[in-house]
Amino acid sequence: MRIGILTSGGDCPGINATIRGVGKTAMNYYGMEVMGIHSGFQGLLTKDVELFTEKSLSGLLNLGGTILGTSREKPFKKNATGPDINKVEIIRNNIAELGLDCIVCIGGNGTQKTAAKFAAIGVNVVSVPKTIDNDIWGTDFSFGFDSAVHIATDAIDRLHSTASSHKRVMVIEVMGHKAGWIALYSGMAGGGDVILVPEIPYSVANVRETIMNRLKKGKPYSIIVVAEGIPTEGGRRAGEFIAKEIERETGIETRETVLGYIQRGGSPTPFDRNLSTRMGGHATELIANGQFGRMIALNGNEISSIPLEEVAGRLKLVTEEHDLVVQGRKMGICFG
Ligand code: F6P
Repeated sequence: MRIGILTSGGDCPGINATIRGVGKTAMNYYGMEVMGIHSGFQGLLTKDVELFTEKSLSGLLNLGGTILGTSREKPFKKNATGPDINKVEIIRNNIAELGLDCIVCIGGNGTQKTAAKFAAIGVNVVSVPKTIDNDIWGTDFSFGFDSAVHIATDAIDRLHSTASSHKRVMVIEVMGHKAGWIALYSGMAGGGDVILVPEIPYSVANVRETIMNRLKKGKPYSIIVVAEGIPTEGGRRAGEFIAKEIERETGIETRETVLGYIQRGGSPTPFDRNLSTRMGGHATELIANGQFGRMIALNGNEISSIPLEEVAGRLKLVTEEHDLVVQGRKMGICFG
């Protein structure tokens, strides 16, 4: 068999470890040929590919980003004149010309949608969930999330020094447009006093109350962790908006930090390296068994898989019932 691997959407720690997991299992265990496809679905349009050797897969486990490059090319995307049938047909022909028996798509929600559409028209695909946002339906965790939480928690730990030394409120904005998983996990791990996520409505008055109560208890400093996707007035940046409002409402000096792309860069944590390795290996196993149209998933500590059509178009969001939210509220943390 000859398989192709592509990486699509934003970069994320653990992509290269996943490529390695797929490639080494495919070559060493199943005797498959493995082709790397450059720049996501873009590479399938132009046949921009390379045949992997054992050497191409060395040194990848701890390497950030993606050696294949990525793009946000969406071949099924509707344009003004309807779906771009040509791109899909070109890709279908190219897959046949390249002799690829299956494509492994490593990506986030957009990629899962595209992979599901290819599966629906009979293209053999298997996908692996990749995103620091952890918002892909059907898997407890996607690789990259643990690394991002690690980085954000470290940043919150460091902000505590300035908060307590200067008696300030420190606001940190982390990634997550629709889902607040990074804010929730890093906020709890970093000892945040207020954690705001897009899924839970907040009021500035409640946040002010929390800060003022802490002041009364002899704690003149606070840490507020906000996901970038919380609603703000006038579409202002989440961190900037909350910092301005809280300084005005409490009179306490407030500073804001936007963590940005630092959360997505660099080396994966040991957890993510092992998750990537397991998910990559399992993807290859599915292909060897002829089980296509599925996304790899982590359920508890088990690696399994789920049909792509069940994943596409759905988001896994933070809920009020999540144990960290329930526990946080019991400890006096404000979620809005
Ligand atoms: O990878 C997911 C994510 O990090 C989001 O949380 C973030 O808002 C988005 O990607 C930004 O990515 P880009 O600027 O590459 O589109």
